[in-house]
Amino acid sequence: MNKINVYKPSDDTFLLAECIKDLKGDSALDICTGSGYIAKILSKNFRIVVATDIDKCILKRDERISYICCNGASALKSRFDIITINPPYLPSDMISDITVDGGNEGIEVTLSLMEECINLMHEKSRLFVVSSSLSNISRLLDIEGLETKIVKKKRLWFEELIVIEANLKYEARLHPYH
Ligand SMILES: C[S@@+](CC[C@H](N)C(=O)[O-])C[C@H]1O[C@@H](n2cnc3c(N)ncnc32)[C@H](O)[C@@H]1O
Repeated sequence: MNKINVYKPSDDTFLLAECIKDLKGDSALDICTGSGYIAKILSKNFRIVVATDIDKCILKRDERISYICCNGASALKSRFDIITINPPYLPSDMISDITVDGGNEGIEVTLSLMEECINLMHEKSRLFVVSSSLSNISRLLDIEGLETKIVKKKRLWFEELIVIEANLKYEARLHPYH
């Protein structure tokens, strides 16, 4: 697995930022945090902010944000009011750049991260995930245990960026530790 450099905030970052900038609550988790742009916005309105990335380059000093280097949220057990993910989402035969390569259909990394989030959500948690029209979005909208909808879109010249919002389905709330 290679890493070229820390992902700089881009159109996808700003689209996600639009969705979460006015949200308030107690705890927030930003998975795939990269530069920490989204985590910093969350830290204005949330008491606890945790930010994870598989790349240790993200580890920084910030008294308002706990940065953790791990795969997805594998180091975490708590539940969060808000979870954000701007994952690598471009279709790719292999993962050669972890900032952008998302697997064959562009969703393989995203799918596993979203499924992992189910165990970190409570009944009012909101999960926001970025993806692209170049990837198999319909699969992301059909994850067992989650109710999903597209809440934001931005057309670029070669793709449309989207943000999916997901909440726990009622049945998943009844069996929160599956
Ligand atoms: C598209 S960049 C987004 C960065 C930042 N959130 C933003 O919006 O500017 C994707 C980030 O996901 C990280 N990443 C890739 N696979 C990951 C995984 N399995 N777990 C955690 N982070 C991962 C990469 O290192 C990269 O920083």
